[in-house]
Formats: sequence, C-alpha cells, structure tokens
Amino acid sequence: MMNTENKTPKIVLVTGGSRGIGKSIALHAAARGLGVILTYNAHAEQGVAVADEINGNGERAVALKLDSANIEALTDFTEQVLQVLRKEWGRENLDYLVNNAGIAQRMPIKDTTEAIFDDLVNVNFKGVFFLTQKVIPMIADGGQIINISSGLARFAFPGVAVYGALKSAYFAQPSLIESGLPDVGYFASRLNSSANYLSDLLSKYTGKSTHEHIHLKLVDKAKSLLWSTENSISEIAYDLGFEHPSHFTKVFKSKTGLSPREFRNLN
Ligand SMILES: NC(=O)c1ccc[n+]([C@@H]2O[C@H](COP(=O)([O-])OP(=O)(O)OC[C@H]3O[C@@H](n4cnc5c(N)ncnc54)[C@H](OP(=O)(O)O)[C@@H]3O)[C@@H](O)[C@H]2O)c1
Repeated sequence: MMNTENKTPKIVLVTGGSRGIGKSIALHAAARGLGVILTYNAHAEQGVAVADEINGNGERAVALKLDSANIEALTDFTEQVLQVLRKEWGRENLDYLVNNAGIAQRMPIKDTTEAIFDDLVNVNFKGVFFLTQKVIPMIADGGQIINISSGLARFAFPGVAVYGALKSAYFAQPSLIESGLPDVGYFASRLNSSANYLSDLLSKYTGKSTHEHIHLKLVDKAKSLLWSTENSISEIAYDLGFEHPSHFTKVFKSKTGLSPREFRNLN
C-alpha cells in the first residue's frame, strides 16, 4: 500500500453507489465527512443524482462509469479514479474501497445458461477481484477493503445457486455471519483487556453493560438495513450474526418498542 501522507478527508470508492445499498453507503459516508467516488453502470443519471445530492449537502462526490464485467476497461477506470483524486482532493491515493456493485439474477439451475452463469461470475466475483487488484496499490496505509456479500452465502433457496456460491467466495476474513454475535470476550481480546475489566469499565462510565452496548449497536445497524435494503427480516438477522430471526426480533423490539417489520413500515 502507498505510504503517501494523507490530507483529510478520507476518501471512499463505492462501486454500484448509484442506488440501493451502495447509494446508502455513499450518502452515509459523505454525511460522515468522507470524500466519495461512486460508480454506476447502466444508469448514469442515477449515479450523477447521488453525487449531486452529496455535493448539494456541502460534501464532495464524483460519479464515474464502471462496468465490473469489462476487465479490460479496469485500467482506464482506475486511471480516471486517480485523475479525480488529484483534481478534487489533491491526493494520489484513497482510503476505502467498498465492493458493492452486484447483480442478483435468480434462476433455477435447469434454466441457467452459460451466458447467465458468466454474467454472474464476471460482475459478482471476477470483476470484484480484478478491480481490487488494481485499487490495492492506490489504498493508503490503514485503509480498508469492504466486500458486500449476502446472507445467501450462508443459506439458500431455489434460484440462487450461482449467486450464493459467488457471494460465499468473499469470506476470507472471519465475519459476523461465520462467528455469530460478538460477545464481551471478543471485544476484550481486541482491546488486549480482560472481559471482566472491560465490562466493569463500560458499566462505570456509561451505566450500560457490554451486552447492552452490543445490542444497541446491532439495532442501529438493523435500522439502517431495514430502511436502505429490501432484504428479508431473516436475511438481516443472519447478516448481523443472529442464529435465529426470532431472537433478532425480540432484541429489536426490546430496544425500539417496534418489531423490525413495523419499523420498516414507518419508512
Ligand atoms: N438487495 C439485497 O437484498 C441484497 C442482499 C444481500 C446482499 N446484497 C448485495 O449488496 C450489493 C448491492 O445490492 P443492491 O440490492 O443494493 O443492488 P441494486 O440496487 O441492484 O444496485 C446495483 C448497483 O450495481 C451497479 N451495477 C450493476 N451491474 C454492474 C456492473 N456490471 N458493473 C458495475 N456496476 C454494476 C448498478 O448500477 P446501474 O444501475 O447503473 O447499472 C447499481 O449501482 C450487491 O453486491 C448485492 O449482491 C444485496
């Protein structure tokens, strides 16, 4: 990774930032003061509209065209990203890559043609891999790469054999989906502390137990997923690390007074 000294703000490249989850990521990142480069593929007007919205709010965003399936064009794309970084932020690097762009064609195995299979592979996996390969040298020290996977990496229903398999391909790192809900022991070990010490410290200074903090954070994440995606309640529960959707519903209701469905319907 490059060792260039960074000037603020941090900059994120969000693929597929023109709608859905990627749009939400772009808007939230901008609202937190990050510079945003977002991409669109077939719908330029939507990508530009998201960038306009961010710029209209006094933050900075640029929308670029990206077709992840076109591997040959990735060199030109990363060159464009570099030009934007130089022009808009006076930087040669960025901080975060969010590989969000994806297609979710649902098709029974018997009807899946080679062309459909290749489309899914090219956009959801091959393109993600080679874009990441191109962008890694542009990521500043301490930067991060975030791949948007799916609950369908963990469970399946008819029509998602190829898509689900490709989404599992991202799990090189331990994730909530694999490891379940984080507990106090997890956070304590990340902080080189003991579970008891961390619990005592949190209760003393915040009046809330670690358990309570974890649940509040998960409910926050759940709220954002309920409004920004069309994922089913079960998918959101699994994505957050709950083993049973009913446990998720119970925790959510205890913190908000509403079930996840009732909360979603407020939007
Ligand atoms: N929505 C869900 O229920 C769900 C659940 C779990 C995981 N996910 C994952 O979350 C991510 C976003 O999902 P979403 O539902 O928000 O998607 P979406 O609303 O369908 O938006 C897809 C985005 O990807 C872009 N895109 C499509 N084909 C592309 C290509 N060939 N090259 C580059 N960009 C392309 C689209 O741009 P244009 O519109 O301009 O073509 C758009 O910005 C995906 O990776 C998906 O697999 C979604």
